[in-house]
Parts: sequence; C-alpha cells; structure tokens
Amino acid sequence: MLDADRLTFEHHCGGAVIAERLVLSAAHCFDKQPLQLDHVRLLVGEHRLKMQDKHENRFLAEKVVPHPEFRKNGPHSNDIAVILVSRSGVQFNSHVRPICLPDKADTAGRWCAVSGWGYQAEATENFAPVLRAAAVPVLDQTTCRKEKVLGGCQQTILDSMLCAGILSGGVDACKGDSGGPLACYSNRWQLHGVVSWGSGCARRARPGVYTRVASYVDWIKSTANSLGQRIY
Ligand code: ARG
Repeated sequence: MLDADRLTFEHHCGGAVIAERLVLSAAHCFDKQPLQLDHVRLLVGEHRLKMQDKHENRFLAEKVVPHPEFRKNGPHSNDIAVILVSRSGVQFNSHVRPICLPDKADTAGRWCAVSGWGYQAEATENFAPVLRAAAVPVLDQTTCRKEKVLGGCQQTILDSMLCAGILSGGVDACKGDSGGPLACYSNRWQLHGVVSWGSGCARRARPGVYTRVASYVDWIKSTANSLGQRIY
C-alpha cells in the first residue's frame, strides 16, 4: 500500500490500514530527516505497482508519528509509526478493509501471512510488480535468540520484536516489504507484526524480524486518540 519519497514517486514501504484515517507502518520508513510530508503518498487498494488498479486510491499523509523511542534500544527498536491519512480518509469496500489490532501477544507456532512488493530475492534490485504474500510460522523467542539463529547479532531480539520464518530458509520478507503487515487469522485477521528488519533475506537460520504489534496497542490507541481518531 504505502508509497513515498522524492518528487517522482517510487515504491518505498508497506503499511496496513487500521482505521479510515490511520495507517500503521515502520518508523525506519520515515528515516530521512527532515521528513517532508509532501513527498509521501499513501496508496490504498494497490495491487499492481505500476498500473492503475480498479480499487486503488491515493492519499496524502497529514501526519507521521514515529514511535518516540525508535532506535532507543538498538538500531531496530520500536520500529513502528502511525500515519494520519488526509481528510476524507479511506472508504472501505470489497477490496479495502482495515485490519484488527491483536488481542493477545502470543502467536508462537502459528502460521501468518506477510505481504508486500519487496524484492523477490536478496540480490534482485526490483520491487515485485504485483502484491505478493507468503506464509511464515512465528517462532518462539528462545529459538529466535539462539546463537545459531539471531542471538549473535548486534541488535538483540527484544520482547517487543517477533521472529517469523522458516529456519531452512527460502521464504521471507525483503527490502521494500518494510512497514507491511504480518497478519494472522483466527476468527478474523489481526495485525501481529510490522516488517522491520532481517539479516539478508530468506537465508538459512535468519528469520525475518517484525515489530510485535501487541506490545504497542496502548501506544497506537493513545496516538490515535491524540490525532482525534478511534480504532474499533
Ligand atoms: N528493512 C527492510 C526494508 O526496509 C525490510 C527487511 C525485512 N527483511 C527480512 N529479511 N525479513 O524494506
């Protein structure tokens, strides 16, 4: 969905609509300082990146609120941002619907769906022309923190992060998927992760790391509130 940057608009990051006027994404997507709001466009209902799709709509971002503690506990910590969609907001229909916030934190062992227009391999320098999705299992923290997995890297796996992926490699998010959803289904779709970082893409024993949305529900709600918005 989300797009950004420069005067010619290029795909930049993913995002997830959580209310008519609220989109959730990654804070690192808005890293360039100063952030120029007029360089950001939000594409909702997008499917084919370079073509006009029937249900596609463009919006301006009225405000971007990165988490106030982004990078506080390591380069990838608190990697989450709330974006206020311009005035009219998103109209929901058969192709565009908001995703629910998670009602519980523990998803270990569940298979969830990551989606986006990111690279289809670490070495390709092209965004996917059509939205792609992959099923990945959520790992428990102990597994993710193992020395042989992501235990030895400079960013420690915080409780506010979630790892998902297949340890033998081959399935993962990649560059350009950042900010996009890790969505898990049980009765309804819930947003459990925001694509945040990885060590390469789809490598063996290098699962993708996501911002654990359940750790930020209170922050998201109070931010929504301060923007005059409500999440159901
Ligand atoms: N940081 C990347 C981006 O800006 C996404 C990283 C996700 N990587 C991964 N291997 N799961 O698009």
